Amino acid sequence: MASWDADVLIIGSGIAGLMAAHLLADKKNVILITKSNVNRSNSSWAQGGIAAALGTDDDWRKHFADTLLAGLSHHVDEHVEILVKRAPSLIREMEKIGVPFDKSKDGTLSLGMEGAHSRRRIVHANGDQTGKAFTETLIHVLKDRVTFLEETTAIQLLKQEDKVVGVLTDKGVFQAPKTILATGGAGQLYERTSNVPEATGDGFALAYRAGATLADMEFVQFHPTILYREGYAHGLISEAVRGEGAVLVDEEGTPIMANQPLKDLAPRDIVSREIHRKYCEGKRVFLDCRSIPNFSKRFPGISRICEKASIDLKQLLLPVAPGAHFVSGGVWTNQRGQTTVDNLYAIGEVACTGVHGANRLASNSLLEGLVFAEAVAKDILHSKPTIDYMKFDKKVANHIKEHMLPSKKELQEKMTLLVGIERNAQTLKEMKQWLLPYIPIVKLSPSEKVSKEKVEVQNMLLVAWLMTCAALTRTESRGGHFRSDYPVLDDKKWLKTYIKSSLEQDSFIEVHSRADIKKEKRYESVIN
Ligand code: SIN
Repeated sequence: MASWDADVLIIGSGIAGLMAAHLLADKKNVILITKSNVNRSNSSWAQGGIAAALGTDDDWRKHFADTLLAGLSHHVDEHVEILVKRAPSLIREMEKIGVPFDKSKDGTLSLGMEGAHSRRRIVHANGDQTGKAFTETLIHVLKDRVTFLEETTAIQLLKQEDKVVGVLTDKGVFQAPKTILATGGAGQLYERTSNVPEATGDGFALAYRAGATLADMEFVQFHPTILYREGYAHGLISEAVRGEGAVLVDEEGTPIMANQPLKDLAPRDIVSREIHRKYCEGKRVFLDCRSIPNFSKRFPGISRICEKASIDLKQLLLPVAPGAHFVSGGVWTNQRGQTTVDNLYAIGEVACTGVHGANRLASNSLLEGLVFAEAVAKDILHSKPTIDYMKFDKKVANHIKEHMLPSKKELQEKMTLLVGIERNAQTLKEMKQWLLPYIPIVKLSPSEKVSKEKVEVQNMLLVAWLMTCAALTRTESRGGHFRSDYPVLDDKKWLKTYIKSSLEQDSFIEVHSRADIKKEKRYESVIN
């Protein structure tokens, strides 16, 4: 079996993995592996942008307050503070390495608006192709500085004396004193998603099997506006479109969010539930973009998605439905990105740093990827390597025989129906029952001899299990976890505080103190 050594292994090529590689590359021998192409990741598809308190009417406290309110105060406040404080200077540093941010006529950064933000604070690049601009810039600056290995599927994290010492892949064994999981999310567990086909939850499964703690897996964010035509999802329609004035309407053209205090820019869980309910009543929902001047110029990527789906761009009435977008929970980490297993780090969507709470604020995910990649890089640069390779035992866990597993499609249908936008004890128990026969199999690592497709299905089944168990455990409705058998947290009270915080300069303290409510609940869903 082939074998490679590195100082640092990075699994995944989204913004977090690339940023960590960039910050480590001059001092460490870095190998970055990805199961498809280095250019393909959820980050590269990200449209909206990066939230940063850069406006003259803004400061980090307001960004902090908006983050807490969107995520219903289920956060690690200290980590949110690190995130929002670092954002403005990080944007300037990224501009220096070449990210082509969009500018206003006066030369200042153009700031967009998205749901649950009290200010315009979303910096973007090439209109609606911010993620691509970031990943392309980072890949460019990484040229000849790290080893990229594409089409390489991670199968099992390798451990020695309770420490992670590398990874077994379908191309052989990679060993390193430090391994960083940057594998992204799990949108493919659902029928409709904004995620790339590669987002099959691999990192959650790898970490779980290696004994790491995962938390908050029940908080799956559904993005309200996936372009949805003739039973197919055709791609994301960024929230930035509603930020520029688009309105959600029913088949009669009546605005459906008119009764919400924040209307179309309410937090995503609220908007998604509203649209979902219309579909449950057999109705359809459209995003009316007719008020937006120069739509194709401001949103070139979305215009291309519409054209591909044969949508008439002159009418600008886009059929939309919610789809799985982001896992707010994940592999539990501290502020240095360390997981609960030695030498294993997690960053980006696969990590649960506690900055998203129960529902991520728009455009905080690329930001989280950058900020915590930086934290991990610092930690690695300051720590001593501890592995004696000579002692490293390359024997890997017993490989199970091939078993009959369901197809991805079957799993997606079940998850959408039973652990979707609305769930309850009955649906969750039904899902658990359906998954039960597969669990003894999928808790073990797949064999390196099975196809990538089978590895993915095993990972997806395990992640579905973790999400279902976590959702059953949390007996309340909060953010991305809505249980029809439990009342939702008092939205009106929250929103009142939210609006107050946007208007009053010094209301930060009041909002901050609300973070303690029900905080003890966070650990209820920790799985290890
Ligand atoms: C969007 O553009 O609506 C998605 C951005 C995000 O998820 O933060």
